[in-house]
Amino acid sequence: METIRQIILTRRPQGIPKISDFALATAPMPVAGPGQMLVKMRVCSLDPAIRGFLDDRPSYLPPVAIGAPINGMSLGEVVESHNPEWPVGSLLRTFATWSDHYVVRADALGLERVNAAAGVPLEHYMGALGPVGLTAWVGLFEIGKAKAGDTVLVSAAAGATGSTVVQLAKAAGCRVIGLAGSADKTRIVSDLGADAVIDYRATDDLTAAIRAAAPDGIDVYFDNVGGETLDAVLPLMRLHGRIALCGMIAQYNDADHPHGIQNLWQLVVNRVSIRGFLTYDHPEVLDRAQSELDSLAADGRLKPLATVREGFEKLPEAFIALMSGQTTGKTLVRV
Ligand SMILES: NC(=O)c1ccc[n+]([C@@H]2O[C@H](COP(=O)([O-])OP(=O)(O)OC[C@H]3O[C@@H](n4cnc5c(N)ncnc54)[C@H](OP(=O)(O)O)[C@@H]3O)[C@@H](O)[C@H]2O)c1
Repeated sequence: METIRQIILTRRPQGIPKISDFALATAPMPVAGPGQMLVKMRVCSLDPAIRGFLDDRPSYLPPVAIGAPINGMSLGEVVESHNPEWPVGSLLRTFATWSDHYVVRADALGLERVNAAAGVPLEHYMGALGPVGLTAWVGLFEIGKAKAGDTVLVSAAAGATGSTVVQLAKAAGCRVIGLAGSADKTRIVSDLGADAVIDYRATDDLTAAIRAAAPDGIDVYFDNVGGETLDAVLPLMRLHGRIALCGMIAQYNDADHPHGIQNLWQLVVNRVSIRGFLTYDHPEVLDRAQSELDSLAADGRLKPLATVREGFEKLPEAFIALMSGQTTGKTLVRV
């Protein structure tokens, strides 16, 4: 019998996930039915949101069951097709499981065709030229309404989304301030073009450090981390400032003990808008966003940043590195 490899959840992680929370397993090769495609995983995306699916609590997707493969986004190649729209060799992105082969229906969640340009590494279509870039674009322009001359602050600025936001905001004519968690990361963010970068772990008064870099305040805060960082930024928002809440990674490893925000009143003082978003709730802007990402990459103003591991069995260690803050740019596994 032909088999596939999967990474399954063996127990619910406590804090930062451990290797022993996962196991490599085999399962029978799935069979593609009428209208369906059998897909071979080529690039798997490690996303902080997956940490939420490993807890037994409601998120925007149901929890992963113990013994079941982990859920996540991946880029794959059709190796058997019962759908003329998706011939063998087609590249696609979809929400799937950590399985080296999987069956995809034509109406699968988040299914998108990938038109890879010659010479561009395939993994970037899972990063800055894919979902990461779209998230950065939607948060910055659709939610944050960033425009030339604005001061934009971004947290986790050396990460996947953050590093892309820095470059998109610079290309749009904004002044950009990044927050990052080490000296190496601050160098990376500076090299991407940020006007100022703060190592938030090396300062004991983050509000003062940001104020020194942005004496007139912040127009747009693109928040990837939430928690104490969000609290520190609230008093610095300018009149009619916008906060795009992309994620709250600071609390994903310890969801039972979120930081209690103390400075919410500042939203009233400065009539600040604060809005959470999910990228794929904004399908009407995604084609425009994708074409802008492609053209910025083509003229060198967007440089996709990624930490890539090789080999399907590296998925757990890549995820643990992501959730320990050890990666820069998009965290990916090439299969
Ligand atoms: N809304 C959406 O549609 C959407 C889509 C994709 C992602 N997101 C969200 O966007 C945020 C960034 O995601 P990403 O994929 O771009 O990841 P990422 O930034 O590459 O993620 C890792 C970085 O987050 C920072 N971090 C802060 N607190 C952390 C903690 N307690 N534990 C681990 N890392 C911590 C670390 O950077 P420092 O060392 O600099 O702190 C780390 O390197 C996440 O909150 C994610 O859930 C939202």
